Amino acid sequence: MTTIAQLASHVGERVTLRGWLYNKRSSGKLHFLEVRDGTGICQCVVFKGDVSPELFAEADRISQETSLEIEGVVKEHGKLKGTYEVQVASLHAIGPVSREYPISPKEHGTDFLMDHRHLWLRSKRQHAVIRVRHTIIKAVRDFFDSHDFTLVDAPIFTPNACEGTSTLFETDYHGDQAFLTQSGQLYMEAAAAAFGSVYCFGPTFRAEKSKTRRHLAEFWMVEPEVAFMDLEGDMRLAENFLTFVVRRVLETRQEELKVLERDITFLERVKAPFARITYHEAIAILQANGHPEAKIGDDFGGDEETVISKGFDGPVIVHRYPSDLKAFYFAQDPTNVGLALNMDVLAPEGYGEIIGGGEREQSLSRLEEAIAEHKLPRDAFEWYLDLRRYGTFPHAGFGMGIERCVAWICGLPHVRETIPFPRMLNRLAP
Ligand code: 4AD
Ligand code: MG
Repeated sequence: MTTIAQLASHVGERVTLRGWLYNKRSSGKLHFLEVRDGTGICQCVVFKGDVSPELFAEADRISQETSLEIEGVVKEHGKLKGTYEVQVASLHAIGPVSREYPISPKEHGTDFLMDHRHLWLRSKRQHAVIRVRHTIIKAVRDFFDSHDFTLVDAPIFTPNACEGTSTLFETDYHGDQAFLTQSGQLYMEAAAAAFGSVYCFGPTFRAEKSKTRRHLAEFWMVEPEVAFMDLEGDMRLAENFLTFVVRRVLETRQEELKVLERDITFLERVKAPFARITYHEAIAILQANGHPEAKIGDDFGGDEETVISKGFDGPVIVHRYPSDLKAFYFAQDPTNVGLALNMDVLAPEGYGEIIGGGEREQSLSRLEEAIAEHKLPRDAFEWYLDLRRYGTFPHAGFGMGIERCVAWICGLPHVRETIPFPRMLNRLAP
């Protein structure tokens, strides 16, 4: 058995491939079978003069997405250097197609494709996206693993609302109320006190009530947390991390980026340090760019972030938002009353926030007040308050949503294609 990706090292040899028929063209004496096996796509040529009449007829009969085994000799394509094809000597259908394959090269609507996501994943563009996703996830892990972070997995069931109570998926936990986690952060804060530098990476859940191009109900988030790190250190960590991830994709996924027709000039420019602006400067940018109504105290949605990031040709970090707009756990800026020591990294080209994080409140009494102000159930947070009772410490961290990062790096208009099986407001299947 050989894979399509290995064909280059088998030129002139007879090989066996197993895969699926992706496409077919025929012209009298020839059938050109495009075969995919997960590692790539290659053209397999069936020449009437080379094979039995039965085999030639079989090649005529098989339809798109039949699984098959092919034997033949590998040749370099006459005109396309670096492209390899197989001259078919034998062909055997493994699994026939019992109905016409629903996805054809013609344009399909998004809902149709999403309903057939289990099959849509077989197509070239989706294949490229998921391979880039894999590379991003590997790069994320490599970055933290090579910087002495310890992986600490956070639970999925939790009694705590980390990111506000409006987007919680509630569930019954043996008679108790539980939620699907919105973020592993609170647990990473506990872990930072045990291990210093930690990260978690797993699925997180938000009952987002709105349909947008960047919200999923289930998404994967990586969350580092570091003891004795401040906001400045957090911003540096985020920019070095993101630069590393983008570099890795550029180094190893050129083919996929080409399939996606991604203009990589913006990606090539991603290099730490990133531009930094304050929330107040961001408001001024909005006012000067078609949003005269923008005022201090406004939160930013996707549209605002697009306008803010337009003026920068790389990612931009926006820091120190009004505390009122932010989660209960942020430390306050000691020199700017009412502002949080937080930061968001906005990706360029209109993508907006892909990372959010900052410095955490260290003071037991201020954290107790914040929990009360946000009307969070005090009982559920007693364990979290313990972290301030027993050797409280400055610490900071952030979260990056993998899907938003994939959407940006792949240049996709919507996060729905960045995860194999998306969960959205109106979508639980397949
Ligand atoms: O800004 P968020 O809500 O921050 C947190 O959850 C912090 N507890 C993270 C931390 O400091 N440890 O979410 C972080 C990132 C966002 O920047 C975005 O990339 C992604 O998670 N995200 C979503 N991605 C897809 N769909 C959604 N509904 C998302 N909500 C957040
Ligand atoms: Mg955020």
